[in-house]
Amino acid sequence: MKTILVTGGAGYIGSHTCVELLEAGFAVVVVDNLDNGCEEALNRVERISHRDLMFEHADVRDKDSLDRVFRDFPIDAVVHFAGLKSVAESVSNPDLYYDVNLGGTIALCEVMESHGVTDIVFSSSATVYGISSSEPIPEYAETQPAQPYGKTKLAAEQHLQTLCEADERWNAVCLRYFNPVGAHPSGLIGEDPKGIPNNLAPYLTQVAAGFRDKLMVFGDDYPTHDGTGVRDYIHVVDLARGHVQALEFLADQRGFMPLNLGTGRPYSVLEVHAAFERAVGEKLPYVIAPRRDGDIAIYFADTAKAEMELGWTAHYDMDDMARDAWNWQSKNPEGYKS
Ligand code: NAD
Ligand code: UD1
Repeated sequence: MKTILVTGGAGYIGSHTCVELLEAGFAVVVVDNLDNGCEEALNRVERISHRDLMFEHADVRDKDSLDRVFRDFPIDAVVHFAGLKSVAESVSNPDLYYDVNLGGTIALCEVMESHGVTDIVFSSSATVYGISSSEPIPEYAETQPAQPYGKTKLAAEQHLQTLCEADERWNAVCLRYFNPVGAHPSGLIGEDPKGIPNNLAPYLTQVAAGFRDKLMVFGDDYPTHDGTGVRDYIHVVDLARGHVQALEFLADQRGFMPLNLGTGRPYSVLEVHAAFERAVGEKLPYVIAPRRDGDIAIYFADTAKAEMELGWTAHYDMDDMARDAWNWQSKNPEGYKS
């Protein structure tokens, strides 16, 4: 049985990936500082998978703690989720974002190398492509992130690429996620945003739950079929399974590879809103509001490379994403505090 270190495993995408890893027969060790994650998520991962995992409460920048983890467990490979993800916070505090997202990746790689572990799957983001991208976006599109968060993700990717180029033992798959939404179909784990959600899907479930009055649709004058912004939403379970396939792919010598994880099927804000109305079975109030600063009209993935390299495609559609997001929200109105 292979043992995988999952940094940030107590968070939204990490917890779903732990379930898929355990169900695929891997042993799992989670390192998380619980800055935005929650130990209860890990208890629930164990309930879903009927398997135990190991948990170390530690920061990925703390090399002594990481070193201890590598000495205590026979780690074969790493899935690296631990990081900060708010675009707005990255603009107000770029040093923190470089410290955690880039510094954390560098510290982790140093400790990995000192223990002879050189296979890593990294949580990157489609935001590395920035604003002037093609439609759909292939991996060879230019990378020019517009904000510090995206720049830290690209810098971490570049660090991994440098390691792979310098030493053939290193293998890194950088998964560039599009818009992860939804929750595990059990309703036991899901996204648990703190405060007012910035992203569309958690905002909609909070409108449905009565915590918010109405959705503000940011702009209806984009050059899209209904004027609202178009994105590539991907069910978090499909995303999680992509990590399992990426790990299996890394088992052969692969070097550095960025891969998009999306469905390749774009949806507008109004189409997402309609899917959530179907899932909830009620009208969800909305108003048209001005465009949000920094938003772009259309963003969706060219998924051919992930399909070719990993044999991976997404299986869930928007109705599945809305149903599972609502199932999680309605069963856990206050998130893990419920
Ligand atoms: P999340 O905040 O739910 O999970 C991140 C986890 O990392 C949390 O449990 C947090 O406590 C932990 N963490 C943060 N800093 C840490 C540190 N220094 N040491 C140890 N643990 C630390 O976020 P998520 O949505 O699950 O995202 C996971 C990863 O995927 C992040 O790297 C994020 O940038 C990336 N990503 C997310 C999205 C998205 O929309 N959710 C999109 C693209 C990329
Ligand atoms: C945002 C992040 C991006 C991150 C992605 C992950 C910004 C600028 N970008 O992208 O870095 O990788 O989340 O999920 O924060 N919308 C509304 N009303 C709302 C919320 C959103 O109309 O209350 C619209 C947006 O204008 C956009 C779409 O819904 O057209 C999706 O928005 P969102 O969920 O925030 O994702 P992104 O903007 O794609």
